[in-house]
Amino acid sequence: LMVETKIKCSFCNENAVTRIGYAKLWLCKEHFIQFIEKKVFNTFKRYGLGGKNWRILAAVSGGKDSVSMLYILHKLSKDIGFELIALHIDLGIGEYSKISREVVENLCKSLGIPLIVLDLKELTGFNLPEMVSKTKRPPCSLCGLIKRYLINVAAQELKANAVALGHHLDDLIPYIIKNFVLQNLFEISKLGPKTDTLNGLVGRIRPLYEVSEDEIMLYAYLAKLPFVQNECPYSARKGLEKTIREFINNAEKRHPGFKIAFARSIAKNIEIYKNIGKEEPLKQCKICQSPSNSEICSFCKITAKVAGKPLGSEVKTKIAKIAQLHLLNLNHTSTT
Ligand code: AMP
Ligand code: FES
Ligand code: ZN
Ligand code: ZN
Repeated sequence: LMVETKIKCSFCNENAVTRIGYAKLWLCKEHFIQFIEKKVFNTFKRYGLGGKNWRILAAVSGGKDSVSMLYILHKLSKDIGFELIALHIDLGIGEYSKISREVVENLCKSLGIPLIVLDLKELTGFNLPEMVSKTKRPPCSLCGLIKRYLINVAAQELKANAVALGHHLDDLIPYIIKNFVLQNLFEISKLGPKTDTLNGLVGRIRPLYEVSEDEIMLYAYLAKLPFVQNECPYSARKGLEKTIREFINNAEKRHPGFKIAFARSIAKNIEIYKNIGKEEPLKQCKICQSPSNSEICSFCKITAKVAGKPLGSEVKTKIAKIAQLHLLNLNHTSTT
C-alpha cells in the first residue's frame, strides 16, 4: 500500500509513497492525491455521471469509501458545477451507528456541505436490531432494503438527479463475477458506473467505479479524512465473494490493469445485460406508491410485520417534510 522509499515521484522531486502498477508511476503524497481526484473527474466525464446544475445526493455511511467519495465530490462540485447534498441514515445499531453519524455530521460541518440525517427509529419507531428480532430476516438484507427505500424517497423529494454511492472496484468486480457464475446476468446491469432514473427509481452513480480499495484507503489516510474504522457488527463477508476477491487481486498483481480493463468492458456492455432476462417493469406499491416488484413494496411488508401496519406512506410524508425544510434553507442561504 504505502512504502518508504528513496525513489523519486514520477512528477516531482519528493520521495514516492506508493507505486501505481497499472500506470507505471511512482507518486509522492501530493501527486497521489491529485492522481485519485483526477481519476474520479475522468470517471465523471467518461461515463457522464453528472454535469452542470445537477443536484447530486451523496449517500454517506461514515466508512472510508463514502467519506472519501464525499470529499472528492465536494472538490469536483465547483469544477463541474453540480450541487452536492449529503445523506446519512442512522440505523440505530448501537455504538456503531452513533460513531458513524458523528463522523458524517462533523465532516459535513467542517466542509460546509448540507447534510440530511434520516433516523430509522424516529421515522418508524424501531431501530434495525429491533426490526431484525421482529422479522427474523438476515440483518444485511433487511438493512439493504431499508436503506434503498429511504435513500430513494429522499432523492425523489429533494428532486436529485442522481444518488452517489461509495462502491469501488473491489466491491463491484466480485459482485459482477459472482452474478456471472450464478448466471444472474440481469443483476450485472445494475453494477455499472451509472443507472438511469426510471419508473420512480432515482438513478445511481458510482464515482469510485475505477478506484481500488487500496487506493481509497491510502487516499483517506493521506488526505487525513475522519472515518469509522469499525465494521458493522452484522457484517460477514460471504465465502464465495472472498474467494473471488483473492482471485482478482492475484490477477491484478500478475496483470496490472486487469481490474480497470474488466470494469470498463462491463460498462461498455451494460446495455446487453439490461436486455437479458428483462424483469417485468416495476409496479407501484398500492400503499405508498413507491416503485416495487410486487403489489406491496418490501418496506411496507416489513413495517407491517414490525409495527402492525405498513408505514411506507407515513415515512414518505415525514421525509418529504424534512426535504422541504431543507430546500427552503438552501434557497434562503443562496439568496442572502
Ligand atoms: P454497503 O453496500 O451497504 O456497504 O454500502 C454501499 C454504499 O451505500 C456506501 O458506499 C454508501 O454510499 C451507501 N450507504 C451505506 N450505508 C449508508 C448509511 N447508513 N447512510 C447513507 N448511505 C449509506
Ligand atoms: Fe446494514 Fe450492517 S450496516 S447490516
Ligand atoms: Zn510528486
Ligand atoms: Zn410501499
